[in-house]
Amino acid sequence: MSQQDSKAGMWSSRLIFILAATGSAVGLGNIWKFPYITGVNGGGAFVLVYLFCIALIGIPIMISEIMMGRRGRKDPIQTLKKLASESGFSPLWSVLGGMGVLAGFLILSYYSVIAGWAIAYIPSVMQGTFVGLQASAIEQHFNAMISEPLILMLWHSTFTIMTMLIVAKGVRGGLEKAVTFLMPLLFVILIILLIYSFNNGAFAEGLSFLFAPDFSKITSEGILSAMGHAFFTLSLGMGAIMVYGSYLPQTASITGSAIWVAVMDTLVALVAGMVIFPIVFANQLEPAAGPGLIFQTLPLAFGQMDGGSFFGALFFVLLVFAAWTSSISLIEPAVAWMINKFSCSRARASAYLGFLVWLVGLLTVFSFNIMSDVTFTQGMSLGSAEIVFFENATFFDVLDYLTSNIMLPIGGLLIAVFAGWLMPEFITHNELSVDKKIFYAWRFAVRWIAPIAVLIVFMNVLGILKLIQSIFS
Ligand code: PHE
Repeated sequence: MSQQDSKAGMWSSRLIFILAATGSAVGLGNIWKFPYITGVNGGGAFVLVYLFCIALIGIPIMISEIMMGRRGRKDPIQTLKKLASESGFSPLWSVLGGMGVLAGFLILSYYSVIAGWAIAYIPSVMQGTFVGLQASAIEQHFNAMISEPLILMLWHSTFTIMTMLIVAKGVRGGLEKAVTFLMPLLFVILIILLIYSFNNGAFAEGLSFLFAPDFSKITSEGILSAMGHAFFTLSLGMGAIMVYGSYLPQTASITGSAIWVAVMDTLVALVAGMVIFPIVFANQLEPAAGPGLIFQTLPLAFGQMDGGSFFGALFFVLLVFAAWTSSISLIEPAVAWMINKFSCSRARASAYLGFLVWLVGLLTVFSFNIMSDVTFTQGMSLGSAEIVFFENATFFDVLDYLTSNIMLPIGGLLIAVFAGWLMPEFITHNELSVDKKIFYAWRFAVRWIAPIAVLIVFMNVLGILKLIQSIFS
């Protein structure tokens, strides 16, 4: 979907916009990443911070992105340039759009590797590979798969091609329709899995892991990753929702749409967590297993369930679709920008960017095998304190850290500042056209709450708060 084909290019209705934005939001972030980083960060307290971030930072910023996109009606770089000059500020604000384009590109490079794992699981589950297997054998299967660079490359290439084909065609035709019925279907399968987990998992233990906050388990890094994930899961801070907003008809309600998308996205993540952790605890698996978590727990459930091969295969098909509707929104800002910048065709821009994404994605492929011992450690010393950002991190870990925990929050922070402080009130009020109370609540959130929260989380990681504390005590 670009400005080129946007002549017909408004979403046909607000509902379609909500579905497309939900398609972008709901993806691997909800079903793969949320459970695994919740596991790594100790559960309940992490989830609570994440929920706060969705409500207080995510929703207001989503409203801002949709609004800016709809007013600018261009790719994120051009939109920021246009809106900045309209409000009398420097065109350099387009750099913010550029950072978003880059973030989307980098995220897609590893996103398609993980989506490739999901593709690889479709035939395995269908053939009954996991039927009757113990947890340890399933874990071995997963480890064997990721240790094979050629296999990972095959599926990574498949997913990249799938993504770029749709993007090259323009998104509206197929995907708009696909999203309309695949998303609800995914939800139905999750509910079936939830029933399985309720009957066969350690449900109470799983729920308490997920929802009973134990603040001794959360670190400042954990808080950063909860906030970063709020941006990631809502597709915020990099212009994806902005591009989608640029196709929103002038009359549709922005605030209502944003709340819908956030609620659905959060529900999917929480249900995924409620499916996975009871299975983890019932089978003495490790909640902090990392990126392989769902690939080690869910096959166990499917292997034991009546009709598990069918439901399992269907689940991974739907997961791939969920990833697909997200991946096109990750690269769409870059494609739209390239078309405008180099006046090239959509097909050419997609082919070129697709190849680059694929190439960078190889770093992630190799992170799990031939380059697994190429690791990075980054930290800094502040006074007497040593701060570690990441330790023994592979390329994949570093990419994920930089995009989710740094680029998206900074992008989001600047978007909030832009919408709250730079755009004149009469414009934003007019665009949002909601009653005064809601408008001022939104404005307060983007002027104060979101920027200050992001800064505090960053400073917390840097230990600066501790430093300041020690000065004053
Ligand atoms: N929100 C998507 C997910 O949760 C990932 C994504 C991030 C998509 C940023 C677009 C932009 O899987």
